Amino acid sequence: MFLRFLLPWIVCCSTGYVIAASPKEEATTAPPALQALADFPIGVAVPIDPWPNSLLKSSGRQALVERDFGSLTAENGMKMAYLRPAPGVFFFLYADALVAWAKQHGKVVHGHTLVWHKQLPEWLTKMEGDAETFRGLLQRHIRTVAGHFAGELVSWDVVNEAFTDDTPSTYRDTVWYRNIGPAYLELAYREARAADPHAELYYNDYDISGAIGPQKLGRILEMVDDFLARQVPIDGIGFQMHIDTDRPTLAQMREAFGKVVRRGLKVRISELDVSVNQDKKYPTLTPALEALQKQRYADVVRTYLETVPPKLRGGITVWGLTDGDSWIPGFKNRADWPLLFDAEYHAKPALDGFAEGLQSVQRP
Ligand code: XIL
Repeated sequence: MFLRFLLPWIVCCSTGYVIAASPKEEATTAPPALQALADFPIGVAVPIDPWPNSLLKSSGRQALVERDFGSLTAENGMKMAYLRPAPGVFFFLYADALVAWAKQHGKVVHGHTLVWHKQLPEWLTKMEGDAETFRGLLQRHIRTVAGHFAGELVSWDVVNEAFTDDTPSTYRDTVWYRNIGPAYLELAYREARAADPHAELYYNDYDISGAIGPQKLGRILEMVDDFLARQVPIDGIGFQMHIDTDRPTLAQMREAFGKVVRRGLKVRISELDVSVNQDKKYPTLTPALEALQKQRYADVVRTYLETVPPKLRGGITVWGLTDGDSWIPGFKNRADWPLLFDAEYHAKPALDGFAEGLQSVQRP
């Protein structure tokens, strides 16, 4: 009798759900944790120190992460600008703290990102030198960073956003491309594999699951085919998927994932968020928008499961925990609510949509 009285309380507290729930939600049954519904990593991008909303300093965020997610990505903290404050200096303190927290809590960590044209240290953008100088720089960065985290991370975005949105899509004019030429891509993947032979190596990009997708994805797959033919190491493609409730269509997503699957490469949805205010029509998140967003999360997750076979599922990561943390309002200069939890850490209908998507296809 006594145990019957205590049991709901014990279950509730051991899931951690109650920590983040409002009094109204405490009375309801907690939905199953996302990570418990999948055989592949369900992840979230999180701010680390010294960002003010760092996961490491927020018990509210930690409770949500502990319950629903099995994989973590530093939203910014492993980008070159933050790991390389000065030419000869590598700074790992904050990124190491994330990796340690993840280990303590049984989460895996995905590295983002070794090579990109944005969030570079200022000293690098001002640097002058010949191709050899920049090759040396790139090699040293990858060797040191991937080497530092070797054995601790499950995967890396080795190169991020290397191709343009033009038709036809071509090499993006980056500090690496300008100074080294197209060979920087191959160099990056070879160095990453050498530095951490067990981490899976991804190429990551935006707008490749539809819209300008077919064009840019086609160019990326040319690179992939060339890599596969010449045994340059690459394990998968990351589809960022900063999408909205209208675009891309599910058929476009299916087609795009399918092209990667046919090559035997892994597919990650690496930065999922679903905007609802793309037309800037809404000052607040309405119940109708919440319902639309819930359906969209369910559809995207179901499409992933239907198109990507279990052994090629690299996982699905949402790009931020709460709507208060999302990069979309700042980047798109509008109000928006693209994530699974609201700014007060309450689960949104979108979370149920994600869970429904995961449950929509029979597990093997
Ligand atoms: C974004 C972060 O979310 C922001 O906080 C930051 O100001 C800019 O970068 N594609 C990527 C991510 O690969 O690294 C970007 O993250 C979002 C777009």
